[in-house]
Amino acid sequence: MIKRAVPRRAALLYFDCGFPFLQCPSYRLNFRKGFPVSQSILLIISGGIAAYKSLELIRELGRAGVKTRTILTRAATQFVTPLSVSALSGEKCFTDLFDLDDEAEMGHIELSRSTDLVVVCPATADLMAKAANGLADDLASTTLLATDKQVLFAPAMNVRMWQHPSVQKNVETLRAQGSVVLDPDEGLMACGEFGPGRLPEIDRIKSAILAALKPDTSLSGKHILITAGPTREPIDPVRFLSNHSSGRQGYAIANALSARGAKVTLVSGPVSIAPPTGADLVNVETAEQMLTACETALPADVFISVAAVADWRPANASDTKLKLKGGKDPVSMEFVENPDILKTLSKKSKSRPGLVIGFAAETHEVEKYAREKLRKKGCDWIIANDVSGDVMGGTDNQVSLYTEDDVEVSPDASKDQIADWIAERIAKALNAD
Ligand code: CTP
Repeated sequence: MIKRAVPRRAALLYFDCGFPFLQCPSYRLNFRKGFPVSQSILLIISGGIAAYKSLELIRELGRAGVKTRTILTRAATQFVTPLSVSALSGEKCFTDLFDLDDEAEMGHIELSRSTDLVVVCPATADLMAKAANGLADDLASTTLLATDKQVLFAPAMNVRMWQHPSVQKNVETLRAQGSVVLDPDEGLMACGEFGPGRLPEIDRIKSAILAALKPDTSLSGKHILITAGPTREPIDPVRFLSNHSSGRQGYAIANALSARGAKVTLVSGPVSIAPPTGADLVNVETAEQMLTACETALPADVFISVAAVADWRPANASDTKLKLKGGKDPVSMEFVENPDILKTLSKKSKSRPGLVIGFAAETHEVEKYAREKLRKKGCDWIIANDVSGDVMGGTDNQVSLYTEDDVEVSPDASKDQIADWIAERIAKALNAD
């Protein structure tokens, strides 16, 4: 066991000084504008393969001016060392409930209280089960039981474990107790299986932490309606026409807006990602259903049309499965145009949202088509992106925001960061009115 990963004198400096980050050049340089230096979190790292990602979280939080004190569970020490954790956080890393030295210096009760937020990252099924059921047999679980602060869990586990009714019941219990449990990301796991269970992206965890530390209320009182995902247009009971939209960008925007206090209604086509926390989700399949759901959700202050709506639908969807004719003649099918949801909601009317935003996914001549769509659809902004690469199924994106007489280009970043970038501009536009 490591008794003192950071020398006592250094630890005392941090505890005693009113402006601890001034002691550390990396904090001084990366101090987030407007963020109070006194904000701190207690990060509990439990034992999963994703534990190494908590090191990046500590570094990112440091850049945002948030001080991190850490606890490693016994299992977590198999994945990361207390030395690397304390080197990054600039704080002693606590590891054992029954270390009398630690208890004399800072007992688990004080540790659990002298923070603004407790974060468990990664949160294993085991530690969430203990927290949900009030078990306390080590420093991490005892601290979770003793704390009077908000707790945020960032789960990471195998897909079958995440979907197990016991884990889902524990997640529900923790949420009912007032804790925030982030939905895990979906994707390929270290164990080789695919599905929800991956640790949420560090950017998403960081945003949730910053939101919990200092709630951003720049969009509170605003109702924002968003469409996301593809639509599915039936051909017969077993076939449909659709596209590759994953829904990720729309879901990330919904998350970023509700983190700023907006009431968000998300009308979504069929996707296989976790529902966003804090938005009212309305599931639809076809473009016609999407339009009806949007009209029902009005009035709204902002409408954001992120969905990749199918332009056409089969004119006569069959009630029974279509059968092969067996001939060599080409097979033909009639299509009719779907309603244009963005154009419909952009029309001047009493219920037109004050700010209407469309998306334009283009493979070439992005600016030309974006400006054309701005005009044709009658919306206020077009957010255009180049989808000639793997944007539609991927996690990264870069967008340009076109208004009638301006354009602003975002950084090339994760879809979560792009969502934040867009949310910031929406808040600025609404608050300028
Ligand atoms: N859109 C919509 N309803 C449709 C088609 C598109 O609301 N039936 C919205 C999309 O959500 C997006 C914008 O219109 O915000 C542009 O969509 P896009 O598919 O890029 O453009 P289209 O109008 O379909 O034109 P094209 O496919 O020819 O590029």
